[in-house]
Amino acid sequence: MDVDLYTPDVIADPWPTLATIREAGPIVWNERGYWMSAQDRVCRRIFAHPENFSVKPVVPAFFGEDAFISIDDKARHNELRLMWSDAFRPAGIARLAQMVHSIADRMLDPLVERLEAGETVDMVEGLCRHLPAYVIAHMLGVPAEMQGMMIEWSDKMAASTAGGYDIDYETDPAWLAGEAAKRDMAAYVVDLIRERRARPTEDLISQMTHSSVGKTLSEDAMVINSRQLMFAGSETTANWLGHIVHVLGKRPDVRRELNADRALMRGATEEVLRWEPVVHALPRTAVGDIEIEGVVVPDGAAVVPLLGAANRDPRRYDNPEALDIRRSGPASLAFGFAIHNCIGIYLARLEADQTTAAILDRIPDYELTETIRYSGFTLRGPAALPIARC
Ligand code: HEM
Repeated sequence: MDVDLYTPDVIADPWPTLATIREAGPIVWNERGYWMSAQDRVCRRIFAHPENFSVKPVVPAFFGEDAFISIDDKARHNELRLMWSDAFRPAGIARLAQMVHSIADRMLDPLVERLEAGETVDMVEGLCRHLPAYVIAHMLGVPAEMQGMMIEWSDKMAASTAGGYDIDYETDPAWLAGEAAKRDMAAYVVDLIRERRARPTEDLISQMTHSSVGKTLSEDAMVINSRQLMFAGSETTANWLGHIVHVLGKRPDVRRELNADRALMRGATEEVLRWEPVVHALPRTAVGDIEIEGVVVPDGAAVVPLLGAANRDPRRYDNPEALDIRRSGPASLAFGFAIHNCIGIYLARLEADQTTAAILDRIPDYELTETIRYSGFTLRGPAALPIARC
């Protein structure tokens, strides 16, 4: 096949293209220079075998060699991930509910005021894009006055791969801007690390510097791991919130059902993420000639599991194209699978559910005033969401 997944048309509506790839076979060669898999079972197999399908070289090029998202070796990966595992378990995350709800309320205050005055407001700019970044910056221990800057750096990192993985690392302006942002963030975070090493508090940077593995890490490695969290914790959840706001604006029936029964919330937000996932493509590289369902992927070939396509695989889900907030089927691939599955699942879910509750409470009825544009393919969410009261 010859498919460009990064054209405006595909970004606007990837679903017909993804269905064609999924039906073309378990793993399909794209003339653009990589193998693609759009079937749930095959994507899971790829993620479950980092010894056959490595995150290297693309993931370390983006996050840095020492980030645990960049490490295939299970023992080393798990050792590093352990420094934050407790903080991200459900019990630890549940304690953040009030903090998250109050950030949502604070951000909604000016938006509600403007909506009541008859204005149109952009929910991406006013709420979705920044809320998760404030939460993770707060958890890391970044003081309030620097949180805006952290968000700006993280946004530049996100923009650096918006055109896909075929990047000229020497000249691509978006990549170079992302690299500059990483350096600036690093220079700031290293000061924070030194400060917390000397005077620990409860935050994630203090937990890292004082954990047994943290004590063995270089400052560079600590910076890279913190930056990974800042990026992964903000750009992803921001897009999930965008998809939720979009669904609530387009589907008054869903809004009515959630208002009538808030117990539906958990299933509803999770279903939005299955149906409109944020992370569509994750890069891997074949280590050796690897056979998958009768196809041999040669050593060194780029392999891209397509998570959004897998989330609508009819072999796994009944009626996969339908958004069904009462769906009780199997977990989707939206948060990845196996060794690198998302450490932030419970945090992201808490943010999605608390923010949705706050929106339902504060803006009971609204409509979208424009057809929305999407931000990209690899990380896909609404670029803007202008809404007005109806
Ligand atoms: C909607 C929200 C989110 C989505 C869709 C999402 C998605 C993912 C996916 C697909 C992966 C697998 C990456 C791979 O296999 O290469 C991943 C890993 C990861 N995520 Fe998330 N994520 C979200 C929120 C968060 C949050 C809130 C945090 C932290 C604050 C976070 C931190 C991470 C980290 C550190 C990893 C690497 C885990 C490892 O290698 O062990 N994510 N995420």
